[in-house]
Amino acid sequence: MRQVPFFLNLSCLLLLKDIEILMIIGILYLRCPIDNTLTYDYKSCDYRSRGYVPDYILTNAELETMVETTDEWIFTRTGIRERRILKEEGKGSSDMVVRAMERLFEQTGLKPEEIDLLICATVTGDMVFPDTANTICDKIGAVNAYGFDINAACSGFLYAIQTGAKFIESGTHKKVVVAGVDKMSSILDYSDRTTCVIFGDGAGVVLLEPDATGFGIYDAVLRADGNGRHFLHMKAGGSVKPPTIETVLAREHYVYQEGKTVFKYAVKGMVDAVQQVLERNNLTTDDVRWLVPHQANKRIITSVGEALGFTEDRVMVNIERYGNTTAGTLPLCLWDYRDQLKPGDWVVLTAFGGGFTWGAVLIRWKG
Ligand SMILES: CC(C)(COP(=O)(O)OP(=O)(O)OC[C@H]1O[C@@H](n2cnc3c(N)ncnc32)[C@H](O)[C@@H]1OP(=O)(O)O)[C@@H](O)C(=O)NCCC(=O)NCCS
Repeated sequence: MRQVPFFLNLSCLLLLKDIEILMIIGILYLRCPIDNTLTYDYKSCDYRSRGYVPDYILTNAELETMVETTDEWIFTRTGIRERRILKEEGKGSSDMVVRAMERLFEQTGLKPEEIDLLICATVTGDMVFPDTANTICDKIGAVNAYGFDINAACSGFLYAIQTGAKFIESGTHKKVVVAGVDKMSSILDYSDRTTCVIFGDGAGVVLLEPDATGFGIYDAVLRADGNGRHFLHMKAGGSVKPPTIETVLAREHYVYQEGKTVFKYAVKGMVDAVQQVLERNNLTTDDVRWLVPHQANKRIITSVGEALGFTEDRVMVNIERYGNTTAGTLPLCLWDYRDQLKPGDWVVLTAFGGGFTWGAVLIRWKG
């Protein structure tokens, strides 16, 4: 029962006009915790994941013709051999999600009109506005859905999947699609060898639905430190520094990264987040079948896996073929390893990226 505060007694009310009483009641209502019953016994399961990467393969050999680099440097320093690039004129991030969604529709029987909500994690939306999620809904015919974008860079998929899970847990949404996508080639300076060799384009989607059988998204640790913006960002194009001839000439519409600093924080952030999410669910590394780390650098993946005590056969890695697809890496891993994921497996996703943002999501795989 919500209690009426002591000062809201009859004598007070008599001094006020009707409209003032209504305003006070309105403010009190907004400030009180809502105590209607929420169905927290639901978990949201994510067993239907699909991915898409463009056909064009940009190899290390081709990059050798573009900047001063070598296949040997790129592979030993990052673990990347090739990455995919969306070359088609007039196509953007939404189009890659549409292709992944087509696979989801074909292979699961899901109908576009059944989707309630579509959340799109991306830093390379089709346009600065409107949001890409609603463009995707339009392109796939999700006429009953609404959507919004989440901008948390490489951790975007973690933030988005946790947000989607909460919509399911609240009992208000039954079918939530979460997309992680980036067309990194649209914000890379292909004359800067320190960034252009790392990233690629790709998309993945998962469908979240209610599940009362003990599977699904169990918990999430999400973190952020806004001071990290100095080390990984795009200098111009936002409201602080809108595009001008000068910003274009200064090449400020591309990814800027201080790689060594980001590397150091990335390892620590992911290790801490995974440990925290396991500890508070009374699990150890030994209980977890799969660690699914963000694919930023093979050396980061190895350091995180070793620090947590995972053997290599329990760590998902596909960076060699795709590079870093930012919000796309985690769903693309789930897609690539789909045949090896078994019902009941404990799976931990972890990521670190621009913001800084980082975290870990614990899932019991439904199969
Ligand atoms: C970017 C990254 C691969 C660079 O690797 P690194 O070992 O730190 O390399 P450095 O930046 O110290 O550069 C070492 C040298 O290689 C050179 N170099 C950089 N890129 C090169 C390339 N593509 N080819 C050849 N040489 C290169 C540098 O110029 C430098 O040369 P110098 O010593 O003469 O100055 C690495 O720092 C990294 O992965 N950082 C984290 C990225 C990340 O996690 N991002 C978060 C999510 S997006």
